[in-house]
Amino acid sequence: MTVAIETRGLTKRFGGLVALDGVDLRAGAGETLGIIGVNGAGKTTLMNCICGLYRPDGGDVFVSGTRVTGQPPHVVAHKGIGRTFQVPRVFRKMSLIDNLLVPVLDQHATDAELTERAEGMLARMHLIDLRHNYAEELSGGQQKLLEMARMLMPDPPIVMLDEPFAGVHPVLCKFMIERIEEMSDAGKAVLLISHDLTSIYRLSTRVVALNQGKIIAEGGVDDIRGNPAVIEAYLGT
Ligand SMILES: Nc1ncnc2c1ncn2[C@@H]1O[C@H](COP(=O)(O)OP(=O)(O)OP(=O)(O)O)[C@@H](O)[C@H]1O
Ligand SMILES: [Mg+2]
Repeated sequence: MTVAIETRGLTKRFGGLVALDGVDLRAGAGETLGIIGVNGAGKTTLMNCICGLYRPDGGDVFVSGTRVTGQPPHVVAHKGIGRTFQVPRVFRKMSLIDNLLVPVLDQHATDAELTERAEGMLARMHLIDLRHNYAEELSGGQQKLLEMARMLMPDPPIVMLDEPFAGVHPVLCKFMIERIEEMSDAGKAVLLISHDLTSIYRLSTRVVALNQGKIIAEGGVDDIRGNPAVIEAYLGT
């Protein structure tokens, strides 16, 4: 089986700070890889290096076996990666429908077909009644849903979610968890960053713990839960 997403020795520095220090990880189709670590551990930097937003200083990124290291974000996205951001980046002055059309404008489909797809996706995300509103009119949690919907429009085989549950009410969290389960059930490889360990442990097939840019533990949920290095990194004891 081809690995959906793989990094080898991924390294990123900001001046003297080593934000990522030789990170090797892999995730296959249908697998959810949880990524945990304290603030500043390097989680978002990892996603930024994978999706091409940051150019790594060392190492490589492979998408479905193809090396994409250092490629710009739109090229990496076309290889089959979608992502959401820790702070949602919606197109604020565009309607919800138009937000969803942006990533599929180059697809061979009529406007009517694409609009129907976008409406179906908004219905699935319980946002259909707001389809003609500007994105800036949505609440913070609704913007996270909109971003998730936009990410799914091109049906990417790999998705990366950066803190989808942060600042989200438990009812909406539960809804998002179900949507994420649908993604892995559909065979997508999911990279999931969260400080909500309960959700991470529920969703992940494997978990990677980062600390100061390095993987300090990796394994199944039970391996990670009681791992002394993880406990020390989280609690400082
Ligand atoms: N663009 C940047 N310029 C300079 N330093 C950066 C930049 N992006 C990240 N860093 C630094 O890299 C380190 C890792 O940051 P990162 O955002 O990846 O952490 P994180 O694990 O996502 O943390 P959090 O849980 O708070 O979101 C931090 O020390 C941060 O200050
Ligand atoms: Mg982060």
